[in-house]
Amino acid sequence: MYGLVNRAIQGLVENQFGTEAWERICTRADIDGGSGFVAMEAYDDAITYALVGAASAELGLDAGTVLESFGEYWTLYTIEEGYGDMLTMMGSTLEEFLDNLDSMHDRIRATMPDLVPPSFEREEQPDGSSILHYRSERAGLAPMVQGLLRGLAKRFDSELEIEHVDSPEPGHDRFRIREVR
Ligand code: HEM
Repeated sequence: MYGLVNRAIQGLVENQFGTEAWERICTRADIDGGSGFVAMEAYDDAITYALVGAASAELGLDAGTVLESFGEYWTLYTIEEGYGDMLTMMGSTLEEFLDNLDSMHDRIRATMPDLVPPSFEREEQPDGSSILHYRSERAGLAPMVQGLLRGLAKRFDSELEIEHVDSPEPGHDRFRIREVR
């Protein structure tokens, strides 16, 4: 994944646990974090997974919790990193924004040609909830999506009930989401 992602993990850890915690995590993951990740450079996914695994072990949190916190943090971090206008452009309501996630990642590909983005599809249900399909070439990131959804809901001054319904096949997860505010 692009260095932007690994830098965000660093930002989250340093904000909440300090720079020494980040150094310990890099040592544990056997990664030279000292020289820093370049945001616009593509790195092996194994580095990101190693960082999440080491953060989980070092901080005594399960990997799902780390990924969920990371997802929520991502919605703030990308604004700090200059993607605020892009986020604003992609929708004035949470629904509209979710429906535009694929075109947003498509646009991002213009500056990150090696991007391997996820794909989202929202199906409105008769009861007012939505089924959100998340498809990815990567395994194990469903908890990150839960955090992302929470972060996005805050951004739209809303609150979501989120249920991970199932994973009908590898690389495909279904969530039921309902706006409660
Ligand atoms: C403008 C803000 C955003 C930027 C710049 C951005 C960029 C990226 C980048 C660079 C990656 C790593 C993939 C790679 O390097 O191949 C990624 C992955 C991902 N993004 Fe975004 N993204 C943004 C917003 C969002 C939002 C709001 C969501 C909400 C659902 C989202 C969902 C994901 C997920 C789930 C992944 C993990 C990769 C996977 O599932 O395979 N992103 N994004």
